[in-house]
Amino acid sequence: MFLTKEEKRLLKGEEGFAVRKSMEILVALGSIYGAQKLIEVGSVQVAGVSYHNLGDAGLEYLKELARDGKVKVLTTLNPAGMDLKNWQKLGIDENFAKKQNLVIDAFERMGIIISCTCAPYLIGNLPIYGEHIAWSESSAVTFANSVIGARTNREGGPSALAAAFVGKTPYYGLHLDENRKPDIHVNVAADLLKISDWGALGYCIGKKAQNEIPYVTGIKNATLDELKSLCASTVTYGSKPIFHIKGITPESEKHKPPKRTITIRNIDIKNAYKSINDDFSDIDLICVGCPHCSIKEIAEIAKLLKNRKISSNVEFWIACSRLVKQMADKRGYTNVIEKAGAKFACDTCMAVAPLKGRFRSVMTTSAKGCYYSRHNSMMTKMGGLDECIAAAVKGKWN
Ligand code: F3S
Repeated sequence: MFLTKEEKRLLKGEEGFAVRKSMEILVALGSIYGAQKLIEVGSVQVAGVSYHNLGDAGLEYLKELARDGKVKVLTTLNPAGMDLKNWQKLGIDENFAKKQNLVIDAFERMGIIISCTCAPYLIGNLPIYGEHIAWSESSAVTFANSVIGARTNREGGPSALAAAFVGKTPYYGLHLDENRKPDIHVNVAADLLKISDWGALGYCIGKKAQNEIPYVTGIKNATLDELKSLCASTVTYGSKPIFHIKGITPESEKHKPPKRTITIRNIDIKNAYKSINDDFSDIDLICVGCPHCSIKEIAEIAKLLKNRKISSNVEFWIACSRLVKQMADKRGYTNVIEKAGAKFACDTCMAVAPLKGRFRSVMTTSAKGCYYSRHNSMMTKMGGLDECIAAAVKGKWN
C-alpha cells in the first residue's frame, strides 16, 4: 500500500504510541484487503464500549491508548453497558459500573464525544452523500451506506479507533464504487403495517440475500424510523451492510435491478415472526429503542402511555441517547413516560447491558433486539409499539 511521507512518519512512531499502533492496524488491514492507499474520513463511530464485552483486557488496551491518543476527527461512541447516570435505577451492579466508568474515562481522554448511541446520525454525527467515514456499529454502518449514501466498511472497534487517531482509513471495500453495486433484486410484495414489520422484512432480506447486496423494489415510502429498523435487521440476519431501495435510497438511481429476483410476500413476513417469536406469555422485560429511539418515537410512546400504568410484573425500558432524552425532558414526554412507570435506559441497550440471567423473556419492536436477546438466553417476542405497550400495561403477552 502506498504511504505518504507523513504517513510513514506516523508509522515510525513520531506522533506517539497510539498513532503508531493505529497506523500498524490500518496498514495491516489495507494489505489484507488490497487497498492502494489511505483516505481521509469525515467522522468515526466506535463500537466496543460496554465493559460487558470488553472485559479487563479491553479496558487495559483502551487505557494504554488513552495515554497519548487523541482523535483527529469527529468521533462518537456506541452504547455502553449501562445508563451512565441512572445505572442504579436499572439494577446495574456497582462493580460493573466502576469498570464501565473507567472505560468511559479512557474514551473521554482520547477526545471522543461520549454520545453512547447506535444512531449517531440522530445526534449530530451525520455524514453527507459520498463522504468517507469509518463507523463500526452494524445498524449505523448500514444506515450510513444505504440511506445516506456515505461510504464505510463495517469497522471493528480497534480499526475504528485507529481511523480516529489517524483521521484516515484504508481505501477498499464499500469505499469503492464497484463494491456497492447490487447483486440481487428483492421485490417486496408484502404489507408493512407496523414498525416491527420492517424488522421482519429485514430478517427476510438478510436471510435470503446473505452475502449479496439487495436492490429492493416495491416499497413506496418509508420513514426514517422504519429505515432505521430495516437497516438493523437486514445486516443482523444477513451480512452486507448496504442495500438500495428504488425511489428511496440515493444510490438506487445509479443502478438497475439485477436479473435474479426473489419476492417477499406476506407469508414470508408471517414466517419471520414465527421464527423470531418464542412461545410464552409472561414477559419480564419490554424494551423499545433498538436502534436507539428518535424523538418522534419517544413522542409516540408518551402518547400511548398517557394516563396508563405499566404492570408491576414487568420492566419497561426505552433505550435512547442522552441528547434525545434531553429533548424528551423539554417536551414533557419524560414526565408522562416515567409517571406510567417506564424507565429510560440512556447510553445503553438491551444487547450490551449485562442482562444475562436477570430476565427470562423480553418483548420488543426490534428483530435485531430479539436476535441479541436470544444470545443473552432470553425468550423473545416481537410486536408493534402499541402491542408492546399493551403487553406492558397488562403485564403479559395476550
Ligand atoms: Fe443499537 Fe443495541 Fe440495537 S447497539 S441497534 S440498541 S442491539
